[in-house]
Amino acid sequence: MAKVLIVGNGGREHAIAYKFYKEGHEIFMTGINPAVEEFGTCVTINEDQIPSYAKENNIDLVFVGPEVPLVNGLIDKLQEKDIRAFGPSKKAAQLEGSKVFSKMMMKKYDIPTAKYESFSDYKKASEYLAEQQVPIVLKADGLAAGKGVIIANTLEKAQYELKEMMCNSKFNSAGAKVVIEEFLQGEEFSLMCFVSNKKVYPMEIAQDHKRAFDNDQGLNTGGMGAYTPLKKITVDDIKVGIEKVVQPIVNAMSDEGMPFYGILYAGLMKCKNGIKTIEFNVRFGDPESEILLLKLESSLYDIANNVIDGEDIELKWNSDAFIGVVMAAKGYPEHSEKGAIIKGLDKVSTPIFHMGTKKVSGEIVINGGRVLLVCANGKTLQEAREKVYNEIGKIECEELFFRRDIGHLSL
Ligand code: AMP
Ligand code: GLY
Repeated sequence: MAKVLIVGNGGREHAIAYKFYKEGHEIFMTGINPAVEEFGTCVTINEDQIPSYAKENNIDLVFVGPEVPLVNGLIDKLQEKDIRAFGPSKKAAQLEGSKVFSKMMMKKYDIPTAKYESFSDYKKASEYLAEQQVPIVLKADGLAAGKGVIIANTLEKAQYELKEMMCNSKFNSAGAKVVIEEFLQGEEFSLMCFVSNKKVYPMEIAQDHKRAFDNDQGLNTGGMGAYTPLKKITVDDIKVGIEKVVQPIVNAMSDEGMPFYGILYAGLMKCKNGIKTIEFNVRFGDPESEILLLKLESSLYDIANNVIDGEDIELKWNSDAFIGVVMAAKGYPEHSEKGAIIKGLDKVSTPIFHMGTKKVSGEIVINGGRVLLVCANGKTLQEAREKVYNEIGKIECEELFFRRDIGHLSL
């Protein structure tokens, strides 16, 4: 039994903790997750305190969930203190931390992606935008919790949003630089890989649903649900994703002195003219990882250590279809009310991951944003879907909403 410290306390980190716990390890977590508190130790400490906390508690492995600490360089700080830590270095994490950097790398290494220009000068950006076709995509350079992408259907809207980002700090400093890129159409899929420098181990693919409401209406969110397998993405598509996107980018990072160790998430789109890269993330997707961690039969502890050491790994998967549906607080992603009590959780017989809950006087309450991920599996996606929506029906809380069409594209 090892001592594993998980950084982060959302649904993804709950799933990571649950996987390590099932493998027999002792769980520590930074931040409070009421469900993880049932089987592990949750502590409220800030990023700077993590290295000394890990040392004092003889932690064997630190596993970082979210992008922010990775982009801030937490892995480098842990490794400086000889603490085993899973995730990319600060330099490698730029692939997610800066859209300008990742687009520049894709251009330089001929990795298929949407055509784009980047700007740090508002006037130049506005002039360029005036000559583009709609729909057009604006992306804040820095981290914006999955909300920094605007798809505008009119140039007026695009100009308004550009001004909000660059002049009115809509995404704080993340919007000081922007990428303006071509709108792509097609089937999106998440190809996550364990990466140990130039060695790439692809996971099974999943699809997330980014928009808030059914039929892809509403604003972009952190993701409203995920499922696997996908009907419209073939083995060949995945092969192209690995050969034309993932392998070239990790080779490039290594050759440029920023070798990648950890999880590389390629957000890909199958377009009429081939597979294109939408984005890179440098950590497990949320909510994709929750379902993939339920599906993963191999030891995550062995995988993480082998990635760090450059040893080969083997991935074994349960053959079922898996689905996870997010229940979010009404008003998400723009604002959300906290505090409403959630009842009926004890009646649910499939896994639930806590994304944004809090325990108050013994009751689980909404703590904002994405709140719960209810998961299920089945021999077919149809079976898994029926199960998950049936389980959701047992949860009572007027202040939660969810999409009813997760997985519909692959039925
Ligand atoms: P990102 O944060 O880059 O993943 O963008 C969030 C979401 O916006 C993606 O998952 C896509 O659904 C959408 N998106 C981003 N870039 C484009 C693009 N060039 N064309 C169409 N949709 C896009
Ligand atoms: N589900 C999308 C993400 O994790 O970025």
